[in-house]
Amino acid sequence: MTRLAPGAHADVLVIGGGIIGLAVAWRAAQRGLKNVVVVDPSPGHGAAGVAAGMLAPVTELQYGEEPLLRLGMASNERYAAFAAELTEASGEDTGYRRCGTLAVALDSDDRAELRELHAFHERLGLDSTWLTGREARKLEPMLAPGVRGGLHVADDHQVDPRRLLKALVFACERARVLIHRTEAAELLVQDGRAIGARLGTRETLTADQVVLAAGPHSHRLPGLPEGVLPAIRPVKGQILRLRVPDAYRPFLNRNVRAVVRGQHLYLVPRENGELVIGATTEEQGYDTTVTAGGVYELLRDAHELVPGVTELPLVETSAGLRPGSPDNAPLLGPTDLPGLVAATGHYRNGVLLTPVTADLVAEYLATGEVPELARPFAPSRFSPARSTTKAVA
Ligand code: GLY
Repeated sequence: MTRLAPGAHADVLVIGGGIIGLAVAWRAAQRGLKNVVVVDPSPGHGAAGVAAGMLAPVTELQYGEEPLLRLGMASNERYAAFAAELTEASGEDTGYRRCGTLAVALDSDDRAELRELHAFHERLGLDSTWLTGREARKLEPMLAPGVRGGLHVADDHQVDPRRLLKALVFACERARVLIHRTEAAELLVQDGRAIGARLGTRETLTADQVVLAAGPHSHRLPGLPEGVLPAIRPVKGQILRLRVPDAYRPFLNRNVRAVVRGQHLYLVPRENGELVIGATTEEQGYDTTVTAGGVYELLRDAHELVPGVTELPLVETSAGLRPGSPDNAPLLGPTDLPGLVAATGHYRNGVLLTPVTADLVAEYLATGEVPELARPFAPSRFSPARSTTKAVA
């Protein structure tokens, strides 16, 4: 393990080496900040190591989340360039694929809901096209014969989060970001300012600015004064990985999703033959057990949507924890504790929001100015004195 020099000091200390922390560190180093350090016992893992990697600002949109939509669209627009730059910097492909997404309805109630969603998309000027069941099946012949209609969203794409994480680790190392494989045991606060962290190795690292990017563990960092961050709740998602044998390809051409029995279900087909099926949404604390019930429900619902999935080899089951803020939107930028910057709470959109989060947070770290796009997501919206202000109205 890397050891820090006694009295080590960083310009920027990033606590958490998941997709958000690594991307922020990489961009901060590119902005010319020297001595950027990431601390994480297992960098390049976290929720993104489990996620399917749908880049879906439109099809993940919930009513009333227009500010989040703007952020998601801004990140989606940056993705192609972000992925290309990362590949150039790391030598690793990220699996970014401009495939579009088809959201389908399995019965007449679903169809009515999807129609309403389509009207909502049209009011917002989003690129979303209504299809009959027959038209949806023409695009995706493996869909169940009973599919009643669908929405084709041409700009909701995908990336492979595991490859992206690997690329980020390499890009950080090449940009001279120090990745220190240990935990942050305690935030150090002096005279009302965050000044660094005591690490699991008992070393102390002081820093000009500390970025908290520890997902659902962010608010639990020892030493963090009360009220600086709201609780970031862990929302478990169980997910399956199947393999499409060569003889069955192309099985699906694009991301396919539906709401089945009230649960979001999606199938994300990769060019290398992996098919990811996700995901449950469970609020049960920090447990990441894969359960028979979770796997059963995902396979049952996926079989209803695309009956052929049960013929495919099941390769992996896993579970991760989405970091959910109280309004399900991220916390980006300076907190009420001087020296402490938040990049957390991305809930269902961490992979999608990675490029824009990294750009906005690095901009703040380099200039001290909060970019306009980040303002609705100020962590101070949850400050006890201002708890009536909401990012997502
Ligand atoms: N973004 C998909 C999920 O959180 O399950």
